[in-house]
Amino acid sequence: MNGSSFGTYFKITTFGESHGAALGVIVDGCPAGVPLSAEYIQTFLDRRKPGQNAYATPRKESDLVEILSGVFEGKTTGTSIALLIRNESQRSGDYSEIASYYRPGHADFTFDAKYGFRDYRGGGRSSGRETAARVAAGAVACALLDELGIKVCAYTKSINKYVCFDTKEYLAERFSPEELASLRNQSPLNMPDADASAKAEVFLQKLREEHNSAGGTVECVMTGLPAGLGDPVFEKFDARLSHAMLSVGAVKGFELGSGFDAALLTGTEQNDPFYTDDAGKIAKRRNLAGGVLGGMTDGSDVLFRVAIKPTPSVYAPQETVKKDGSSYTCQITGRHDPIIVSRAVVVVECMAALTAADALLCNLGSKLSHLEAVYGIKK
Ligand SMILES: Cc1cc2nc3c(=O)[nH]c(=O)nc-3n(C[C@H](O)[C@H](O)[C@H](O)COP(=O)(O)O)c2cc1C
Repeated sequence: MNGSSFGTYFKITTFGESHGAALGVIVDGCPAGVPLSAEYIQTFLDRRKPGQNAYATPRKESDLVEILSGVFEGKTTGTSIALLIRNESQRSGDYSEIASYYRPGHADFTFDAKYGFRDYRGGGRSSGRETAARVAAGAVACALLDELGIKVCAYTKSINKYVCFDTKEYLAERFSPEELASLRNQSPLNMPDADASAKAEVFLQKLREEHNSAGGTVECVMTGLPAGLGDPVFEKFDARLSHAMLSVGAVKGFELGSGFDAALLTGTEQNDPFYTDDAGKIAKRRNLAGGVLGGMTDGSDVLFRVAIKPTPSVYAPQETVKKDGSSYTCQITGRHDPIIVSRAVVVVECMAALTAADALLCNLGSKLSHLEAVYGIKK
């Protein structure tokens, strides 16, 4: 089992290693008629690629996407969409020493335990570079969601102890997705709060000098999702979302709505009261549930956050062992991000979009009226 696929109807299969010839993805199940171009996908990849700010790895990759199939005259054809990103900056020499020992915090040991053999150049399939293929696929999902008025916006909420606006609240309670994206894009760390971003920059500079790294959190809001997406048991919307998030390298935690704080609340504090709004629509007075009840979306914004660990490749000496078990003090070289969080923002956004696109397609057969509407037939 290599588990390179995600999704049921809107399904992606990624391939490629960081130091192989190319990375890529097959997107299967995207409906025909969605406007799509390489330029549009590129805007997403440009947000992920290295060298975007002083804290991202200086590795130079243009991450140019090629659409090999599934798009004709600017629209998806309904057949499989193949996207390719060729690798350009493969300095395998930087990584050759890694072959002999296990880097702490990396998948070297577990790769050997599972396969008995590994591509040690930059982590192979476990490399952060693998996420380029997910981002390309996620851009396709975003193109579909955009046609339906569904928006997904992620941003850096915190880096170490530097938290946007010093609040535990979701920033989506204060700002629209457009405002959040605009504030986020002004920060080299993708933090919508300029003050927190400036403080985090100073902190990261100090950590860099100490040959260390930091972690943080990414928050995400999804607006415009209809109520009823997701299933009540194993395929809960939140279960699929957490699967999507925890499948990203370095993501160590996931919470929906009040998340772990729910354990500290009473029932009346946690339950979101329902009411009927002026337009006669059933709504909720607040959203501690994070937009999902019983595994199905409730029509309010989906709010979630993920915790991302510090970059495991630190230049400080670390205790480890060689493959034969002999002790070894390693000193990692090569090119690595002192912070992953800011580059992971677009990855979170894209994995959320893929989850939503798949849930929309999976839900088409949930009731008779859907089939009547889709096929335009009725008894
Ligand atoms: C966008 C992104 C970029 C990453 N860049 C690096 C990096 O430059 N150096 C590094 O050591 N790890 C990086 N990682 C993290 C490793 O891929 C990950 O920590 C490692 O494979 C171990 O997996 P685990 O943290 O899930 O246990 C990155 C992850 C992501 C999502």
